[in-house]
Amino acid sequence: MTFLFNSDARRGAVFAEAFARDLPEVAFVTDGAMVDPDAVRYLITWTVPDNLASYRNLEILFSLGAGVDQFSFDAVPATVKIVRMVEEGIVRMMQEYVALAVLALHRNLPTYLAQQRGGKWLDIPQIQAGSRRIGVLGLGQLGQAVLDRLKPFGFPLAGWSRSPRQIDGVTCHHGEPGLEELLAASDILICLLPLTEDTRGFLDADLFAKLPQGAALVHTGRGPQLDHQALVAALDSSHLSAAMIDVTDPEPLPAGHPFWSHPKIILTPHIASVTQPATAARAVIDNIKRHRAGLAPVGLVDRSRGY
Ligand code: NDP
Ligand code: OXD
Repeated sequence: MTFLFNSDARRGAVFAEAFARDLPEVAFVTDGAMVDPDAVRYLITWTVPDNLASYRNLEILFSLGAGVDQFSFDAVPATVKIVRMVEEGIVRMMQEYVALAVLALHRNLPTYLAQQRGGKWLDIPQIQAGSRRIGVLGLGQLGQAVLDRLKPFGFPLAGWSRSPRQIDGVTCHHGEPGLEELLAASDILICLLPLTEDTRGFLDADLFAKLPQGAALVHTGRGPQLDHQALVAALDSSHLSAAMIDVTDPEPLPAGHPFWSHPKIILTPHIASVTQPATAARAVIDNIKRHRAGLAPVGLVDRSRGY
């Protein structure tokens, strides 16, 4: 029984040590050319390899990341479970990034940076946290974690998901009518939705128009969810005040793309959160143990929903 690790050597070394210690009965292999394809029961990878069909006894395809949109589900036999990454390192880093972004936008950092470049010493009247409403699109592992991390600042917190949720201290909305309510009351909107057919192109001109005048955007979901032109238009018309963008389509952006130099955009290169090998290895090993005990793995993807 073999676990095939298809990623970089640095992470592979950490995984190898954890498997040797905590799951020695499963052979750990990093080189696909050296493995008997019939022995491969578990595979972790960022993208589906071309030779996936040769692993005829594959039971679980693990995503190296929290997202699974990079997998073409059609290429994965229906008998194979697809499992996204649910591990505390990803969660912690996303909490940090979103806290950084929300505070930067709340405290007008993009404007102060532009003023510094222009040699201007001007203060902007500061809205207090209790009057700055935060809305989070997506109330899954990451949406809930960032809301939790934002609680101590005193922002009014709200979120939106597909199915109804109840979260202490958070006004929860769901479905189509819930989206309108959330948008109308979000001064800082954070996107933490998975990329699916329903969320592709979601952050568009219509959605921006439903946000309050002067609202700001934090985008840490997936690049194809955002209409770049619509964002630039909303910023240029001052309907939106600023944006912090971590994911784009394509990645990286081409030279000359307006996001590189837009004074109201802070751009980061898809680093909001990165899988941490030690905690990820623990999560994967726990999931293999669950699977072998007949339990559903944590982070099991529902193919019909796309996430
Ligand atoms: P989860 O699957 O745990 O949560 C997804 C949430 O989105 C759920 O609350 C779900 O609703 C909601 N949702 C999905 N589709 C819809 C829809 N059509 N309408 C309303 N709500 C919807 O995912 P995670 O929190 O683990 O991750 C979210 C995404 O974050 C990832 O898919 C990835 O794209 C992105 N990400 C980005 C990173 C970065 O570095 N920028 C790093 C890691 C992840 P419900 O609760 O009803 O199921
Ligand atoms: C992920 C990512 O999905 O890094 O984990 O974007």
